[in-house]
Amino acid sequence: LHSDERAADDGIPVVDITADGMTSTPIQQTMDLARTHGPVFKRRLGERETLFLTSLDLVTEAADETRFAKGVSVVLENVREFAGDGLFTAYNDEPNWAKAHEVLMPAFALGSMRTYHPAMLKVARRVMASWDRRVADGTPVHIAEDMTRMTLDTIGLAGFGFDFESFSRGDSQHPFVEAMVRCLEWSMRKFARDPHADHSAEDAAFRADADHLASVVDEVIAARTASGETGEDDLLGLMLGARAQEDGTGAGGPGLDLANIRNQVITFLIAGHETTSGALSFALYHLVKDPLALRMVQREADELWGDQADPDPTFEDIGHLPFTRQVLNEALRLWPTAAAFTRQARQDTVLGGRYPVKAGQLVTVLTPMLHRDPCWGDNPELFDPSRFSPEAEAARSPHAYKPFGTGERACIGRQFALHEATMLLALLAHRYRLIDHADYRLRIKETLTLKPDGFTLELAARTSAD
Ligand code: HEM
Repeated sequence: LHSDERAADDGIPVVDITADGMTSTPIQQTMDLARTHGPVFKRRLGERETLFLTSLDLVTEAADETRFAKGVSVVLENVREFAGDGLFTAYNDEPNWAKAHEVLMPAFALGSMRTYHPAMLKVARRVMASWDRRVADGTPVHIAEDMTRMTLDTIGLAGFGFDFESFSRGDSQHPFVEAMVRCLEWSMRKFARDPHADHSAEDAAFRADADHLASVVDEVIAARTASGETGEDDLLGLMLGARAQEDGTGAGGPGLDLANIRNQVITFLIAGHETTSGALSFALYHLVKDPLALRMVQREADELWGDQADPDPTFEDIGHLPFTRQVLNEALRLWPTAAAFTRQARQDTVLGGRYPVKAGQLVTVLTPMLHRDPCWGDNPELFDPSRFSPEAEAARSPHAYKPFGTGERACIGRQFALHEATMLLALLAHRYRLIDHADYRLRIKETLTLKPDGFTLELAARTSAD
């Protein structure tokens, strides 16, 4: 055994990182632990132990909905401080989860993406207008920052009819994003706190940020209710409609209270953009490092839009970009931007035939390591979109790939994210030459979600010869 490792009574290695502490990149730190200690281990930090699983066979068991359900981890408990009982952080048995799920599910079916397509395209055009200016003045683009602007504007417009106008703010982000990132960082750091130190200043700053999030959301809701219309066909409209139904007639309907609607809006603004912007940023990173894959994305886009300067992608076009979709899938395999999810045992059980887990105990799936399980072949670190060809997918266990979590509490926004990201990636590859001017080496920043740090590209307009 490694010097900081001992087997507990249950036979699961315990890796004590208390002496070194948690780094600013806990996911990558824990991936290293998994590489050293294998597919099941407990990470001990002070008094706190977290049980991690990384192998296909163990995750397959943890994904079994009869044995495990979603677990609200310690970090998610911290996120609850500002997202309350929103869908993402709600407990399984909290009535508001089932109500909101029922109200919102239809809004996320594949067909509903047709409703959001125009807003997504409008924001994609904003990205291109901004990038065209970069082409003209020869300055590099900051990829993760621009992808964040684009996904925030998209969820704001498509979900709530609210325009964050992130591309009209120069180099800064909307204050909502800055406050939100600090809140996410606070929930990550709070986990690793020295319980004896004084954290009151940090907590006061967090409270101010959380209040700011709530006030922006109240503005979003007020902008809608002031018009006297609920606007049925977006997320806010559906939620307010369900509320009106209950208030007005008492005649049933799922009914969401205003406090819960506020939590849902915060949840969607957070869940709906951080992860998708990271996915797009990683996809662009891999494309510039893999000229053949970039060429194939370009070819696919060219087949749809030829050399039109300003193509007008239809909803159906996005279904005709299968390789672009494979690139996103593969980017999310290597760097699933929500990199862990937690499961909770429904009853006493035994994992892998030998590791006892008690009813209520939490187990955390470390997704980037699941995505490097031996079932992915000899070279899991290599970017290879052909892993997501229909044949390869059919031959693989559905539990080998979990960037969107699992089961009933899996990501509700998956189709939304993939429609938005596939369209933008294809449009960007169609329009620009992507120039890796700084010979970028991947560094990953963690703010609960993962993003390439300091990734910039220079751009040039593509011509039909490119
Ligand atoms: C849940 C990942 C985009 C809304 C989740 C979960 C994961 C995830 C892993 C499960 C968390 C858990 O089990 O604790 C991602 C990734 C995305 C993405 C990687 C982009 C590439 C979106 C978008 C939206 C969204 C665009 C909204 C428009 C949600 C919500 C939940 C969720 C509301 C909670 C669902 C529930 O428990 O009922 N997401 N997500 N996500 N996601 Fe996403």
